[in-house]
Amino acid sequence: MIRDAGPEDAAACAAIYAPYVTDTTITFEIDPPSVEEMAVRIKQALETHAWLVIEDDGRVTGYAYAGPMKARAAYRWSCEVSVYLEVGRRRTGAGRALYEALFERLIARGYRTAIAGITLPNDASVGLHTSLGFEPIGTYRKIGWKLGGWHDVAWGQRPLAVLPDPPAELT
Ligand SMILES: CC(C)(COP(=O)(O)OP(=O)(O)OC[C@H]1O[C@@H](n2cnc3c(N)ncnc32)[C@H](O)[C@@H]1OP(=O)(O)O)[C@@H](O)C(=O)NCCC(=O)NCCS
Repeated sequence: MIRDAGPEDAAACAAIYAPYVTDTTITFEIDPPSVEEMAVRIKQALETHAWLVIEDDGRVTGYAYAGPMKARAAYRWSCEVSVYLEVGRRRTGAGRALYEALFERLIARGYRTAIAGITLPNDASVGLHTSLGFEPIGTYRKIGWKLGGWHDVAWGQRPLAVLPDPPAELT
């Protein structure tokens, strides 16, 4: 079951995210966010974009969210998306289902383009984004230092909706 997140999901989302922060280069954060910080992030995302969770037997096992691509005003119809499943939960269709639901929310608010950054290598994330129609844009080389090495980040973008221009204001 996929639903909008609420503040009560902060602990589950923080727990899912923490091992990716401490043990991998999938995210460039160095310190896992606290439950309070995660609650703030969820609230902010819900106000302007979207934050969804997926439940398995009533337990949150993954989440996807979107945030601003860049602060400058003309970028505002573009957003950056991300998805995390609890470690070990792979290839069940959850990543795709979360993203498809996320994109529906974003389209409903008026967003036009999703972008995503993937620290390389990450076969699952590259596969997911390719499968969902993200077009490769380019790769920042040695752009982040974490866990004793430099890492490349590949960027992709995907149209969310093709609608008449000028774009309507976001809701
Ligand atoms: C990336 C992630 C969300 C994918 O979720 P998932 O539930 O495993 O993916 P799905 O089962 O929905 O698969 C969707 C498509 O992604 C691709 N894919 C998934 N895992 C893959 C893998 N290991 N290798 C290649 N392609 C893969 C496939 O094209 C798949 O379609 P298919 O079922 O026809 O093969 C999940 O692996 C994850 O949480 N990884 C850790 C966090 C992360 O990397 N997040 C992205 C940050 S950029």
